[in-house]
Amino acid sequence: MTVAAHPATPARGREITITGIDGAGKSTLASRLHRALTDAGHQALLIGKHSTEVPMDPELSAYVDHLNEVVYRRDARVAQACGDHYWLLALAAWYTLQDKLVIQPALAAGTHVILDNAHHKILARYTVNADVSTRLAEQVFTHLTEPDLVIFLSIGAREALARKGSFTSLETGHSGGGDEDFIRYQDSVLAQLREQEQRGGWLSLDVTDMDRNTVFKTAASALADHLQLTI
Ligand SMILES: Nc1ncnc2c1ncn2[C@@H]1O[C@H](COP(=O)(O)OP(=O)(O)OP(=O)(O)O)[C@@H](O)[C@H]1O
Ligand SMILES: [Mg+2]
Repeated sequence: MTVAAHPATPARGREITITGIDGAGKSTLASRLHRALTDAGHQALLIGKHSTEVPMDPELSAYVDHLNEVVYRRDARVAQACGDHYWLLALAAWYTLQDKLVIQPALAAGTHVILDNAHHKILARYTVNADVSTRLAEQVFTHLTEPDLVIFLSIGAREALARKGSFTSLETGHSGGGDEDFIRYQDSVLAQLREQEQRGGWLSLDVTDMDRNTVFKTAASALADHLQLTI
């Protein structure tokens, strides 16, 4: 009698999340790590706010794309009119679908996920927002998959602004249009991220004086040390 061969269940993929204030260098590092993982022969997925593809499922992909349009591709007047509570819940809906339809299946299939900016910055923004309960903001994200590694790119707001060059009203917390408004608001968001870092056991990198290559190399060695992932 022959025993039916079962395909081996792949080892679960690892989720690596990059967080930090606006302009910290998250997207730059995320795409570099993704490329390096892929070049080293790993299955890896880069997920950010423009990722709407649900692999092999055009119907779900179309639905996720509709939600992306609602959340991210709207005009400023509409955004203002909807208000903070609506945006917290809309963003929670976005992160929920991204987690359930894309991240969890990828991890289960053995694909590593690089998440360019998870909900942590949103939570930090809502924590400094006196009009919305912090407890509510915390609760709407608690069900999301816990990343295997959170890389926190730590940099002051003034230095981040020098890198970015320009900013939107949202990036000043709608507090004004001047550089000082960006710096004041982003430094308060940074203080909240530092509190989350303490509670969450994140890997914090002070990237103030690091060029792109040094940030990448430091993050790559963290992947080897913490997750035994070599790239
Ligand atoms: N280590 C670095 N040194 C200098 N400039 C950098 C570094 N990393 C990224 N940059 C530059 O800083 C700017 C912001 O980087 P990036 O878009 O990666 O930040 P981000 O954290 O994704 O920002 P956002 O929150 O706005 O999406 C870009 O112009 C990028 O090329
Ligand atoms: Mg970015």
